[in-house]
Amino acid sequence: MAKPAKFSSIAHRFLTFGSPISGQAIDKLIPLLPLNEQSRVLDIGCGNCEVLLRILKHFGCSGVGVDINEDVLAIARKNAEQRSLSEQLSLVKEAIYDVEFQESFDLTMCIGASHCCGKYEDSLRFMKTLLKPQGLILSGEGFWRRPPNQAYLDSFGGRREELHSFYGNVELAHGIQLSAIWSHETSDEHWDDYEGKYRLAMARFLAENPDFPQYEDYMQRSKSWYDAYLAWGRSTMGFALYLFQTTHNNTKPRTTP
Ligand SMILES: C[S@@+](CC[C@H](N)C(=O)[O-])C[C@H]1O[C@@H](n2cnc3c(N)ncnc32)[C@H](O)[C@@H]1O
Repeated sequence: MAKPAKFSSIAHRFLTFGSPISGQAIDKLIPLLPLNEQSRVLDIGCGNCEVLLRILKHFGCSGVGVDINEDVLAIARKNAEQRSLSEQLSLVKEAIYDVEFQESFDLTMCIGASHCCGKYEDSLRFMKTLLKPQGLILSGEGFWRRPPNQAYLDSFGGRREELHSFYGNVELAHGIQLSAIWSHETSDEHWDDYEGKYRLAMARFLAENPDFPQYEDYMQRSKSWYDAYLAWGRSTMGFALYLFQTTHNNTKPRTTP
């Protein structure tokens, strides 16, 4: 029997990343990371592992991707095979708090997935506990570009407290003894590209599959999300990548690779 198509898998099929980030920004950042062949990288809520795979390719290092969704892990596995990176990538299908880590990492990442750990600050705290001395954190997090209006929040059942401002995300990190050393805000062009492809992929799928059992539900969800994005989201919500280092012991020379 065919596996039921899931909303997120269908909607993401034209997208390179599972979050509204720029591939160019990632490709410019990667060579600046202080990693090498021996480095170990952890990706929490890794999705298809696109960012992690680019890091593994660049440095020849190895990494672990953790996600609860077998569909995205299957894509990650296939992409790793195609790029001859299978031996460098371990995939764990578990909720992040159920994983027992026996090691620490040179870079821990959580992009568009802080909800895996609870709140944004929980994700930073958790990633910090898994860092080697001098390790870095790469976080991708939403923020309010302006206060959201109630109609927008109601459209997707969101709450104002769920996100902070762009700098609010940095201030919360300060409270956890983390200091930002690089950041990149997603441009309007990338937001439009992400949300447009998310909507278009679903619209095309439904047009090609008029007998799909969840047709009405998926159509309604996709339409209402995109309409809310066009009405309010694109001017209200932002997304940014932040690279953090710990604010203590960070003047010591690196002793581990
Ligand atoms: C928005 S996607 C981001 C994927 C990827 N980081 C990216 O930017 O392309 C969030 C991912 O978190 C995963 N996820 C949700 N809850 C999780 C949990 N408790 N533990 C691990 N992964 C989780 C989802 O399955 C999904 O793949």
